[in-house]
Amino acid sequence: MTPRRIAFANQKGGVGKTATVTGLASAITARGGRVLIIDMDPQGNATEGVGVPRGEDLAVYEGTTWALFIESSQGRTGHVVEHIRPSKWDGVDVVAAHINLANVEQGGGQETPWYVDLALEDADLSMYAAILFDCPPSLGNLLFSALNTVDSVIVVTEPTVDGVKGVKSLRKTVALVQKRPNPRLVIDGIVINKRRANGEHEFREEELRKSYGDMVARTVIPDYVARQDAHSAQIPIHRHRGGKSLALQVAYDDLLAELPIEVSTVSAGVK
Ligand SMILES: Nc1ncnc2c1ncn2[C@@H]1O[C@H](COP(=O)(O)OP(=O)(O)OP(=O)(O)O)[C@@H](O)[C@H]1O
Ligand SMILES: [Mg+2]
Repeated sequence: MTPRRIAFANQKGGVGKTATVTGLASAITARGGRVLIIDMDPQGNATEGVGVPRGEDLAVYEGTTWALFIESSQGRTGHVVEHIRPSKWDGVDVVAAHINLANVEQGGGQETPWYVDLALEDADLSMYAAILFDCPPSLGNLLFSALNTVDSVIVVTEPTVDGVKGVKSLRKTVALVQKRPNPRLVIDGIVINKRRANGEHEFREEELRKSYGDMVARTVIPDYVARQDAHSAQIPIHRHRGGKSLALQVAYDDLLAELPIEVSTVSAGVK
């Protein structure tokens, strides 16, 4: 089966795009599936989160998303398979971030936002249950590179006034991309992350649910420090013990169950 390609996006920084990518990767592998993370963000938080050095740390461009851009610009296609690295997490592979991705964000030619799509063209990625694209907090070439190749977007937001604004703006961007470059693009869901039990957060959650209805995932990811601890320790939340890690595991499992990601035995961990 062709795995679903999903972009995690919001131009607002720090809302939990990366945490949602790694949390879902943890949930998928806990069920025996394999996942590929493609790190579109020069910051490289997802790459580091699964225990992989960024390209510049190893002074290489191989194995990075930067290589996808370079080689597509040289006329190659399908080369993603040469740049997939195993991570420290069983069942999770990654195309790592590279600091030079920052050059792509504003520069490049007309074809640049198609280079990632070309790198995946006709590549056999059927061993994965899903391909998760961790996007940077911006509206430049890196986001569009992901939106041009994915099947769907998951909008991650905090239940705050800025988070709500970020959702609005991203919906406009997605509508634009749907019109032209990628008409099959859909929004799989709006995920509320870092929700605390206070009046402001409850109010903003209600506001989001009123505005976007069913598009907002029923599962809400709570704000628990165990999420940061697991990230710093570079371990999947499903392997983390203590604090509220169990509640977070359940939240990511529930979120996965709401999404159109099929974790089949075909993609069962081989690593
Ligand atoms: N549910 C949560 N509970 C507690 N802390 C969280 C949660 N989700 C994310 N965090 C923490 O919040 C910070 C920002 O999260 P994250 O890096 O995932 O956001 P992001 O949207 O990817 O940021 P950026 O826009 O910079 O890429 C991190 O320190 C992360 O560990
Ligand atoms: Mg991030």
